[in-house]
Amino acid sequence: MGTRDTVRPNPATVAPGEDVEVPKNRLPDASMAAETAYRLVHDEAMLDGNARLNLATFVGTWMDDHANRLYVESADKNMIDKDEYPQTAEIENRCVSMLADLWNAPDPARAIGTSTIGSSEACMLGGLALKRRWQHARREAGLSTDKPNLILSSAVQVCWEKFCNYFEVEPRYVPVSDDHRLLDGHDLASYVDENTIGVVAIMGVTYTGSYEPVQEIAAALDVIAHDTGHDVPIHVDGASGAMVAPFCRPDLVWDFGIERVASINTSGHKYGLVYPGVGWIVWRDLEALPEDLIFRVSYLGGDMPTFALNFSRPGAQVLMQYYLFLRLGFDGYREVQQTSLDVAAYLSEAIGQMDAFELWSDGTDIPVFAWRLRDGHTTNWTLYDLSDRLRMKGWLVPAYPLPDDLTDVVVQRIVVRNGFSRDLASALLDDLRAEVAYLDKLDGPIPHAAETTPFHH
Ligand SMILES: Cc1ncc(COP(=O)(O)O)c(C=O)c1O
Repeated sequence: MGTRDTVRPNPATVAPGEDVEVPKNRLPDASMAAETAYRLVHDEAMLDGNARLNLATFVGTWMDDHANRLYVESADKNMIDKDEYPQTAEIENRCVSMLADLWNAPDPARAIGTSTIGSSEACMLGGLALKRRWQHARREAGLSTDKPNLILSSAVQVCWEKFCNYFEVEPRYVPVSDDHRLLDGHDLASYVDENTIGVVAIMGVTYTGSYEPVQEIAAALDVIAHDTGHDVPIHVDGASGAMVAPFCRPDLVWDFGIERVASINTSGHKYGLVYPGVGWIVWRDLEALPEDLIFRVSYLGGDMPTFALNFSRPGAQVLMQYYLFLRLGFDGYREVQQTSLDVAAYLSEAIGQMDAFELWSDGTDIPVFAWRLRDGHTTNWTLYDLSDRLRMKGWLVPAYPLPDDLTDVVVQRIVVRNGFSRDLASALLDDLRAEVAYLDKLDGPIPHAAETTPFHH
């Protein structure tokens, strides 16, 4: 059992003669048998939730046995050791080229990009490239570089707030509102000035799953460039959507087909379908990534350009990404993503039909959707209560307020991922209906603690 400060394995699983009770927060003095240590860690990790029932995360929770084999075989590879693992480096480049092609780079051979640890690092790199390009242009013109700003929807993922904070760029948030639920180019001219390094467009807003209309944003920026001379590039944060839209919405114009789009990121570990630990960023051409941001590492006796915040990071994820690119191809990705979209449509339709709810989005962009409590339905319970009730049955379905200027709207969201089958969706609907019926029968309001833990997207 152990105590608050120590951990003690089940006597049935310790090695003969071994009597271990070790501190939880201090390095134990002595060693223990590998099997005993394994049991301890394994049993503790079991207390984590069941990843397949986690409808809050966008991140991959299942890969097939061949990917699992590759993972074990390549767990020791360090992505930065390009000289030691030249083939992994080569495979990374192939993945970048495939993505550049998928995202309609004018000349995929001239596009440049890298794998990252996830979209957050990729977004930081995208933001840094925008900032550095702007600095170069300003210095060349003999102008000040003191006050860079970046224009974003108030619904951006927290990584962009971090970027602005860590790299000292003023964030100019365009609030979402009932009339403009997405950044759509409306009123953009009042945010842009000579110090604007770029605009972020989100393909698959984290809160709702909806695509921001990149083409409309670009059109608004074209008008601004014409009227003021401020020629502002776009970074597309396609953390989820850049691996969904090319397959399921081939007619949607959002990528390098729009000249203003300088760079695009995605999370290999979201709809790229790999386990946590890989993101991607691609710039449309060499001009979009200033040379002075690039570092060179040793590679096959020569040197290789790298642009990253991390030095060491796992190489296995890149190999698994390449495995999936080969294994699934375009058709396979389309089938997997369309299946998730179909499950999202099935769920959102059923939820939208329930008296208690009103859909906020319907899961037709990325397979993610949100709903709110219908006005006037009840004052006895909230979506936070429903989230708690569902958690008792193992489902993680978070509730949270929307960002500025819609903070009085609380929504609940489901992220449908590969592996969340229609059968599981039916089981979820049964539980959801049962819990709503239970809550609707309450004869008074559920008391709430003063403070709740905020949900982090
Ligand atoms: C739109 C968007 N951008 C960036 C991120 C951060 O991605 P990662 O978790 O891969 O760092 C997320 C994560 O949900 C996201 O939804």
